Amino acid sequence: MTSDRDAVTIGLDVGTSALKAVALDASGRIRARAGASYPLSTPKPGWSEQRPEDWWRAARECLARILAQTEGAEILGLGLSGQMHGSVFLDADGAVIRPALLWNDARTGAQCAEIERRLGRARVLEITGNRPSAGFQAPKILWLAEREPEAHARIAQVLLPKDFLRLRLTGTAATDAADASGTLLLDIRARDYSPEMLEALEIPRSWLPTVREGPEIVARIDAAGAAASGLPEGLPVVAGGGDNACAAIGAGITAAGDGVCSIGTSGTLFIHADRAVTDPEGGLNAFCAAVPGGWHLMGVVLSAGGALAWFTEKVLAASDADGALFDRLFEEIAALPAGAEGLLFLPYLAGERSPHMDPDARGAWVGLSLAHDRRHLLRALIEGVGFAFADCLSRMRGLGLEPHRLVLAGGGAQNPHWRRILAAQLDRPLLPTTAEEGPALGAAMLAGIGTGMFSDFGDAVARVLPAAGTEVCPEADAVAAYRELFARYRKLYPALAGAGLFAKG
Ligand code: XUL
Repeated sequence: MTSDRDAVTIGLDVGTSALKAVALDASGRIRARAGASYPLSTPKPGWSEQRPEDWWRAARECLARILAQTEGAEILGLGLSGQMHGSVFLDADGAVIRPALLWNDARTGAQCAEIERRLGRARVLEITGNRPSAGFQAPKILWLAEREPEAHARIAQVLLPKDFLRLRLTGTAATDAADASGTLLLDIRARDYSPEMLEALEIPRSWLPTVREGPEIVARIDAAGAAASGLPEGLPVVAGGGDNACAAIGAGITAAGDGVCSIGTSGTLFIHADRAVTDPEGGLNAFCAAVPGGWHLMGVVLSAGGALAWFTEKVLAASDADGALFDRLFEEIAALPAGAEGLLFLPYLAGERSPHMDPDARGAWVGLSLAHDRRHLLRALIEGVGFAFADCLSRMRGLGLEPHRLVLAGGGAQNPHWRRILAAQLDRPLLPTTAEEGPALGAAMLAGIGTGMFSDFGDAVARVLPAAGTEVCPEADAVAAYRELFARYRKLYPALAGAGLFAKG
């Protein structure tokens, strides 16, 4: 019998640019890490595809490295996480019919309208917690029926990205309630597919994998999976979760009122709830959580860190190769007052998801004068991103959800000036975390819970994230200033969109 310290679980995350893997031990320490990237293809404007075989190759590569780094340790189980919404179409022999359509693929506008026509937006929202939007799986299946009928006629199974890896490793088609929420076919309260949605969209139930809860053991590595991956045959595989649900677990967000604000290229504001709260406007996504019996409401800010990257690369024509540029820029803007001396910025550089769900929205600086220089442009940009998060938070508050604890995660969380500005804009203390592994770590934690390495979610969180760091508290003067500025910021989108000022092209 090996000691607890010599036992690990493995978590895999099928990201959009790379697959990441971690091995986690019973003391909560990450014992091994591996990553392998793959291409993203955009054969036409707005299309976004990947080859499932690339994920499988990357998974095997990462698993080999993880197994080499943990040699001698007992592997207790595997947890899977990944990009949500993507659609892998398989035929009756399990062969991939065409490249997978990803979460950020925008080709299905007409099919979203068709779903609303068949069921009504309000009914779809009531059942699934979401309004039809291009990234989700259901409109992708409709698109295939219309545009590639020969491929559609071959479908025997439709899987989410991480579940394709599960099929290869175990021979079992299964998913979890959190990731399945991104199909637009799940009744998020029943935590199973909605017969009404399936019937209205003519999607056979048999195409879809069984829905289970995040930490449940749903399959075991089979002989073929063991031979291909090096994992032991019979190893338990838990259901896992979509990347946001697993990242939340990796950040310790598992109880009602826990929230996480994550600043990556895009940003998310995520709050865990013990009931299924939906946004009647559909501006926020409502999904099942990877915690059994839990849900979450999530706002997505499409250009968060990405807005800063755009500004440095395209406006300043600089690169942060030495890592010091952002620090220098933030020192410069920290000297300016809240509000950038009369300048506001709308961060919709790539359209916006929450709360407007408007792919045609665009960015803007408003209030420019001769007194402004690049520091003001950047300060307003950082504040504009913060207001976009505040917009999501205000929508959550309107629905009766208030984060009691708000963790700040992602690259943007690392800068102390950005943290201070954001804490004042959200009028909440923020708890910065440096945990980078996010979804893969959450998946390994789920595997730890499912296989008994951790006794429950509380135990897993206490071991993996033992020390709460120092909160960044909002400063009263800044809070008051931002409250007034936010009221002005919120008038910008309706004014510009209403006047038809978001030019295409
Ligand atoms: C969630 C979403 C993305 C993807 C890719 O709704 O679209 O966060 O999961 O990471």
